[in-house]
Amino acid sequence: MAICEVMPKHKKEMAMQLIDGKSLANKIQEDVGSRVKKLKQEKNIVPGLAVILIGDDPASHAYVKMKAKACERVGFYSITHNMPDTIGQEEIMATIEMMNNNPRIDGILVQLPLPQHIDTTKILEAIDPKKDVDGFHACNVGRLVAGMDGFVPCTPLGVMKMFEEYGIELEGKDVCVVGASNIVGKPMASLLLNANATVTITHIYTKDLKAHTSTADVIVVGVGVPGLIKADMVRDGAIVIDIGINRLEDGSLVGDVDFSQVSKKCSYITPVPGGVGPMTIAMLLENTLKSTQKRTL
Ligand code: GUN
Repeated sequence: MAICEVMPKHKKEMAMQLIDGKSLANKIQEDVGSRVKKLKQEKNIVPGLAVILIGDDPASHAYVKMKAKACERVGFYSITHNMPDTIGQEEIMATIEMMNNNPRIDGILVQLPLPQHIDTTKILEAIDPKKDVDGFHACNVGRLVAGMDGFVPCTPLGVMKMFEEYGIELEGKDVCVVGASNIVGKPMASLLLNANATVTITHIYTKDLKAHTSTADVIVVGVGVPGLIKADMVRDGAIVIDIGINRLEDGSLVGDVDFSQVSKKCSYITPVPGGVGPMTIAMLLENTLKSTQKRTL
């Protein structure tokens, strides 16, 4: 007699949890706001952030506007130096020097990317490492790689906060970082390595992206390619963090992950918008307050 196997009609779908960056960022902003209030009441100190914005890239203008609004919300002093894209290297350097010497300023941020004729490395190296709230100065990059305290770039720092908030343990996990930029991929990989994860960094020269993503416990992607990560590149139960923010022709915002399909397979996923984006700004506020506290000890 044939053995009749009872097969489930449908493969059971995983319970997927959305990582809500917006709520976590709001909670962090409230916490920063109350610490700022206390600092003002007890020591009459107000944290200050200077933002340097060059040119008229609409995305950069939108980001800077959001950063300035967030500063206002938590009670920071903030100034934005808006410069035309015809500006010379020396004028930007002079503004940075002025901010380095301004006692009201605890954090300096130069919004990237910069126009072609400007040497980005030289500009970032001109910022006082103690005011480098973006964590892009070689001094802070080195401290991060060495596992020392310093300023950590806001986006990857925000991703680590999300892992912490959702109780996602990284030790021993296989993590695939997609993208190797100085702003996101490289610092992200360092943070994950410092948390004892096994880290693979993939980039545009990677021969077989799917071979790396499909075996990973965690995928962190930030390359600016809409829908790059498809369902067949993700294993069942994986954790997927989408750092991409891409505006489509119809005006909608999407990430680097094919959210509708991938979300059916994974255990945790970040949405776009409302995922990593708000966390970047929350971490900028945290870093600025950390600078104030260190400088006024
Ligand atoms: N451009 C895109 N992301 C960032 C960021 O986190 N900081 C700065 N300064 N520029 C950016």
